[in-house]
Order: sequence, then C-alpha cells, then structure tokens
Amino acid sequence: MTPDEFRREGHRLIDWIADYRQHIADRPVMAQVAPGEVRAMLPQAPPEAPEPMAAVLADLDRVVMPGITHWQSPRFFGYFPANAPLAGVLGDLVSTGLGVIGLSWQSGPAITELEEVVTDWVRQMVGLSAAWSGVIQDTASTSSLVALLCARERASGYAMARGGMRQGEARLLVYASAQSHSSVEKAALLAGFGRDHLRLVPCDGQHAMRPDAFTAMVEADLAAGRRPCAVVATTGTTAVTAIDPVGALAAVASRHGLWLHVDAAMAGSAMILPECRPLWEGVEAADSLVLNPHKWLGVPFDSSLYYVRDPQHLVRVMSTNPSYLQSAADGQVKNLRDWGIPLGRRFRALKLWFVIREQGVGALRARLRRDIANAGWLAGQVAAAPGWRVLAPVPLQTLCVRHEPPGLEGAALDAHTQAWAERINRSGAAYLTPAVLDGRWMVRVSVGAEATEWADVAALWQAMRAAAEG
Ligand SMILES: Cc1ncc(COP(=O)(O)O)c(C=O)c1O
Repeated sequence: MTPDEFRREGHRLIDWIADYRQHIADRPVMAQVAPGEVRAMLPQAPPEAPEPMAAVLADLDRVVMPGITHWQSPRFFGYFPANAPLAGVLGDLVSTGLGVIGLSWQSGPAITELEEVVTDWVRQMVGLSAAWSGVIQDTASTSSLVALLCARERASGYAMARGGMRQGEARLLVYASAQSHSSVEKAALLAGFGRDHLRLVPCDGQHAMRPDAFTAMVEADLAAGRRPCAVVATTGTTAVTAIDPVGALAAVASRHGLWLHVDAAMAGSAMILPECRPLWEGVEAADSLVLNPHKWLGVPFDSSLYYVRDPQHLVRVMSTNPSYLQSAADGQVKNLRDWGIPLGRRFRALKLWFVIREQGVGALRARLRRDIANAGWLAGQVAAAPGWRVLAPVPLQTLCVRHEPPGLEGAALDAHTQAWAERINRSGAAYLTPAVLDGRWMVRVSVGAEATEWADVAALWQAMRAAAEG
C-alpha cells in the first residue's frame, strides 16, 4: 500500500469508524452469533494473491461485525466500562502509524519521555504524592505480576540473581482476599510462590478484607516459621467493588516487612475525584499500585499504569543490559524495558496524552460524576422496588442486584436470575453480566460507558423489570 493508497483507504476507514460510533445505539449490544459462526465465514487458508482493500472492508461488515459485542454502546453495562474515546483512537492510530518500538531511550526518545510525563500527569490527577514513579504496562495482570516478582526479590535478598527459589528454605507467602481478582492468584502462581502459599484472608460483611484476620494469619504464619512476603489490597474488587482497608492493612504490612501492592485497576479512575480518595486512604504507605486508564477513565485498551515508590528496586529486578542496547545516553535517561517484562514497548503514551488533552481533566471528572449519580439513581430504584434487592454497597458505579420473587430460593432463584439476564442480553436491548456472590447468582450492572446517559440507565431499569417480572 502506497502512502496515497493509504490516504484514500484511511479516509474511508475513519468514516467507517465515525459512522459506527454515531449509530452504535441502533445495534443489538450483544453479538448475535452462535459459536463457530464467524469462523465458518472465513477461508481456512490465507489468500495467495493480493486482494483489493474494498473486499477486506466488505468482509469487515459481513463477517466481523455480526461477531462484535458493542462495548462502546450506551447500553453496555457488562464487565466494566472500557471506554475508548475517539481522541484516544487517533492517538493509537498515530502510534501504529509511526511504527516505532521503545527498546531503549535511544530507539525513540519521545516514547520514553512522553510516557514519563503522562504517567506523572495521571499521578497528579489521582492525588498521589511525588514519591511515586509510573510506567505503562499492558494490563493490570502484568502490573500485579511485576509487583509480586519485586516483592519476592526483596524478601529473598535477590534470590533470582543467585540460586532462585529453592526447596528447603522458608516458603514465602502472599495474602489477598477471596474477592481479589483472578490475576492476583495467577501472578502469585507465575511468580513461583505456589498455590499452597497464597493465603485468602476472610472478608467482612461488605466483602472487604478483614485487617484483624490478616493480622492473625500473619502472626500464625510467623509463629510457624513461614515467611509472609506480600499482601495485595484491592480498592474496588471486580464483583462487588469492595474496598479493602488499605491504611489498616498497610500498618500490619509495615510492622512485619511485607510488600503492599494495591490493585485499583478499576476504581483507580475514580481517584481523579477528590471526594473518592478516602476509598484508598493509606495508599501512600504501599510499595506499588496499579490502575487501568483503559477502564472507566477512558483510554483505549491497553493502558495500565503501574506506580512504585522505589524505582531502583524495580530496575534491579527487571533490568537486562545486552551490549546492542547500550548507548551513550544511559545514565542520563530511563530505559523503560527495565521497568517491566517485555523488551519492546508500544508508544502507548500517545493515546493517554491525546485523551487527557482533548478532554481536559475537568470533563473527565464531570463524566465520572455523571456515572456515579446514574448508578446511585438506579440503586435507589432497585432498592425501592418490591422483590428487588441491591446486594452490596455502591461506592462507585457498579451495582449487584437480584430479583427475588416470593417463594423462589436456591437453585430455582439462580435459574430465574440467569434467565432474566440472558433474556436482556439476547434481546440486544442492553448487556449485563451475571456473577456469583456468596454462592448465589446475581447480576452486575456496571454503569459508565462514555455514551451512557441517564435515559439509557432508565431504559435499562425498565428492561430489567420487564425481563424479570413479566
Ligand atoms: C480489580 C481488578 N484487578 C485486575 C483486573 C485485571 O485487569 P487486566 O485485564 O488489565 O489484567 C481487573 C479487571 O477487570 C479488575 O477488576
């Protein structure tokens, strides 16, 4: 494709994306395809001869679009808001268009320096002190893995650079609540702690980690000669937005020398609102934290920010320094390959930079406040309606609800819950995710897509009542 052909096809594609976003509300939210249907429309082997771009674009509409669930729809209330404002789409396009890779500062100085600046902008936006340094990772899963690797290396006196984690030595332990994200368990396993050494701390009635139970477990483990190493506190758990008490956990962690990692992947966006910051009170005492702008804040996936207080330790754990990557600038610059796992880095800072500049922090704050108000309104409606329950506090924008008709219990209630959520999803009117809470199915309503206004939430509530009560 020549630059001129790119110009022509690119204009058509930008129009295609703009039309898609403009009319997205007309589409059924959930993909209406059966398993295997998309694959069946695709040739099994790649084309030998070139095909015209027009044919590729035609297949986008014919083959791909029926298999898309529309996360940017105003009636998407599933999983979590994964906002992708169009300014961010353009930032990502520039990143791909430049086709540069950050192997070292010298391989693309602006990749590193823009990243330093925008991660510091977000630090200020969420009210963290200047003691934190940030880096962009792909996902919170990677950020939490890096955190636990750093915790392991601190506790083991850099065992990685000697014999590794050996049998026979006191085993290192990681603590998290049963409500913590599955990526925490995965990180603990991948970092070599072993499932037997991941302690799930009991939660209180609001599904937050209990500091007294955490203290008791740490003390019992110490008394038994085991070595508590790290604790992961979650600000805004995935299922119910539970808020682990970071300050209280930090006090215990500091007393016993544990690494404290804060997983604020979802709720971290809310910290641009000063009124939400009490939710992570004590965060300054953590060693590391992750927040995902690719969720509610609105930077197209993938954009996960990992902040640490001791970047030298991070670099010591992560650094490699082959001769072909050394340059005269080393010593004066950051080489961000030493701040995470991959060597090659995309120019992810661009989309963050585009979004923050195009929207301004004020508009971002206003959008998040709108979503919190809309979720609060819906929670009020659900709580007041006979037979309906809001199952957990709603500190931000996610509600956990259940319709409990008189006489329906146990498996029959589960079947009812799954059936009404499925009816809504299949209808295409809106999209919700059922999940299990305390052994019973419930439905999560995650408000906060960029396009979602109060009228969409009101329409959802009508659809919920019709699907469950009708
Ligand atoms: C609290 C929490 N932590 C971690 C994750 C994982 O995020 P990622 O997909 O960026 O790995 C999620 C995703 O939903 C989450 O809600």
